[in-house]
Amino acid sequence: MEEHVKRMLDVSFSATMRISKLAKEMKDGGEDIISLAIGEPDFDTPDFIIEAAYEAMKEGFTHYTPPKGIAELREAIAEKSRKENDLDFSSENILVTPTKHAIFMSVLAHLDDGAEVILPDPAWVSYEPIVKFADGILRRVPVREEDARLGQEELQEAITSRADMMILNSPCNPTGKMMNKEELKMVRDLAVDNDLLVVTDEVYEKLVFEGEHVSIASLDGMRERTITVNGFSKAYAMTGWRIGWLACTKELLENIAKIQTHSVTCATSFGQKAAYVALNEKEKSEKAFEHMMDRYRERREIVIKRLKEIDGFECDKPESTFYTFPSFDHDKDCMEMSMYLLREAKVATTPGSAFGDRGKKHLRLSFANSKENIQEAMDRIERAVEKL
Ligand SMILES: Cc1ncc(COP(=O)(O)O)c(C=O)c1O
Repeated sequence: MEEHVKRMLDVSFSATMRISKLAKEMKDGGEDIISLAIGEPDFDTPDFIIEAAYEAMKEGFTHYTPPKGIAELREAIAEKSRKENDLDFSSENILVTPTKHAIFMSVLAHLDDGAEVILPDPAWVSYEPIVKFADGILRRVPVREEDARLGQEELQEAITSRADMMILNSPCNPTGKMMNKEELKMVRDLAVDNDLLVVTDEVYEKLVFEGEHVSIASLDGMRERTITVNGFSKAYAMTGWRIGWLACTKELLENIAKIQTHSVTCATSFGQKAAYVALNEKEKSEKAFEHMMDRYRERREIVIKRLKEIDGFECDKPESTFYTFPSFDHDKDCMEMSMYLLREAKVATTPGSAFGDRGKKHLRLSFANSKENIQEAMDRIERAVEKL
């Protein structure tokens, strides 16, 4: 059958598929591959959350839920948003759905055909395809070389009269940067002046080592024009559960709820119950979270120290997330460098260009892996780079 659906032609699975596929083939073939390309916590979901899901299932909580989510979870998320993010929302402003689907629905529900979307470069791999699925036009804005922040002039230049939306991700995958108040206010002013809707992905909000995460929707003038997306995947090690949420005005939420109703219907019922327990059992969650953060903190130090020792590599210490985004000064582009490290060092990395052109001379190295594996991987990378 001939493939001709226009919307699909411009979207591929991922620029990094070739490397991931090869890494898997090498591993399956018995080679000792260490992956620093991992995009999820290497910890399992804490037991008390698993038990809550099991209890819910045993009690028969295995049916559909209301599309926007169960009442107690929406209320708990609203309370969290008020207390931790200074967002003036009640449960009616919350819709429960996987984080990625929240972004997908936010864009699909609020972007007209051919409207433009401002997206920083580099940015997480799925925003671009999502905008394309919604028949939007992307305007990528490279972050500044010196500090990986958005520049006012560059942003202003990218915003035309056809711009409808901006997508932000702070803390940022892949750079590990957080937008500071000054940057957020600058973005706020441009969003207000140009009447833009902002979709902000804050899924790494809790994985912060230094500084303070600020939700842009808490700034004056942003409540009405922001959809804040967040979820349980990263902070609670719950990637497979597919539970996250979005928070916005009731008006914005209504169109999104139509898509939820006619696509996935609702998020998994017992997953929602477990997510409620994760939010509600604060002491247990805190303990599990601190255990993970202590490990991430330790690994971050190792990766940064080791990267500094590798010829041609430079890397800022990430303030947040479990990613580092080093640049390298060699003839190879990032795809070639990543492929070389896979073949020569048996270490899988993510080429920076997967996140946009601005990442061409970067690799993304994740430290969601054990200390021992990270040490070994860095030894191998160092030896391989010496040979270049
Ligand atoms: C920046 C960013 N946003 C959203 C997601 C998707 O989150 P979820 O798997 O919870 O849908 C990811 C996953 O890696 C991510 O890195």
